[in-house]
Amino acid sequence: MKTLNVAIIGHGFMGRAHSHAWKNVAQFFDVDIQPNLRVACGRDQAALRRFADRWGWAEIETDWRETVARPDVHIVDIVTPPLLHHDIAIQAARHGKHIFCEKPLALNARQAQEMYDAAQTAGVVHYVNHNYRRVPAIALAKQLIQEGRLGRIYHWRSAYLNSSWVDPQRPMTAALQKEKGGIGVAADLHSHTIDLARYLVGEIASVVALTRTFVTERPRLGEAGTGRVTVDDATSMLVEFENGALGSFEASRFALGRRNYNYFEIYGSRGSLSFNLERMNELEFFSLDDPEFVRGFKTILATERVHPYAAAWWHPGHIIGYEHTFYHAVFDFLNAVSTGKPIAPNFADGVQIARVLDAATRAAETGEQVVLDAG
Ligand SMILES: NC(=O)c1ccc[n+]([C@@H]2O[C@H](COP(=O)([O-])OP(=O)(O)OC[C@H]3O[C@@H](n4cnc5c(N)ncnc54)[C@H](O)[C@@H]3O)[C@@H](O)[C@H]2O)c1
Repeated sequence: MKTLNVAIIGHGFMGRAHSHAWKNVAQFFDVDIQPNLRVACGRDQAALRRFADRWGWAEIETDWRETVARPDVHIVDIVTPPLLHHDIAIQAARHGKHIFCEKPLALNARQAQEMYDAAQTAGVVHYVNHNYRRVPAIALAKQLIQEGRLGRIYHWRSAYLNSSWVDPQRPMTAALQKEKGGIGVAADLHSHTIDLARYLVGEIASVVALTRTFVTERPRLGEAGTGRVTVDDATSMLVEFENGALGSFEASRFALGRRNYNYFEIYGSRGSLSFNLERMNELEFFSLDDPEFVRGFKTILATERVHPYAAAWWHPGHIIGYEHTFYHAVFDFLNAVSTGKPIAPNFADGVQIARVLDAATRAAETGEQVVLDAG
């Protein structure tokens, strides 16, 4: 089996989730490529050392430019804040590295396009980690739609809600300041739901949007006074899909009681689906094909061997969790590197998502419906 060396840039929340998958993917999936955890990069040397020792990264680096230039690195995994994705991905591509990048791909469509162009020019595999596509129940939803079991799709309805900033005393961070590369709830959460909607329903043609920052000033950490919040706390969008379906998207960090509530419903002419990440092994399915006297939403527990990715894990009914989606992404990414075939979502998808987000920003600013030009 071929071995390829991985460099990870960043060692926070996603650094842990990705390391878990790179380290153990070959224990569960039949991979053609064995990933080798070669080097971890970050800025805080002591914290980085602890991270590398815990997860088995052979070396550490504190300069991402040197890291992506190393001849012994074949794959660059970008798990930094979004502000850095563009520059790191472009340099990694120029050095011929395959790129596994966290979402949102970039801060805007222009940046995303430059990343896509650089990766295509270099001929490397590129992937943006909208990992929810690889929840088995969601991959099953895709299969049901592709088999025509929903018929013509009329509606997409999603809500992605948490309560992370509902406390007005929670101190200011750069993540809430656009001028420091912070992103709001639209780029953070809607990037995921736009990815799912494009995957399951189709391309988005136009957008209207409302956006709000509920708490505009927050105390500065360790300093007197307050700082101004310049990103959105909540954004709602109504969209038209190119295929004529209508969609509604809500996202908020001010939904008390909600933690990572990623919920969607799809309604078609022959069937309907509903999914909630907080019950991620389950897919709700309504079908007109069922006899009338037993018709109703049924709950499919997507852990059977016939369900996507499920055969690699435990016996049916022995449920899986959030971290497994990263294994699925890493497995498919390694297959793409091995076969040379593209993986989705890739940087081209990242460009499309960023175009929808840019359109939503314009729509919210102008109060008008924004039609996406054919890209
Ligand atoms: N797919 C998902 O489910 C999911 C969930 C959470 C976050 N994310 C995305 O993952 C990315 C990272 O988020 P996170 O929650 O892990 O953030 P985090 O703040 O926990 O970690 C960010 C890491 O980047 C490092 N970093 C910052 N500047 C750096 C630099 N100049 N050089 C090297 N390292 C640097 C930090 O030291 C830190 O280790 C973001 O794009 C975020 O949107 C995705």
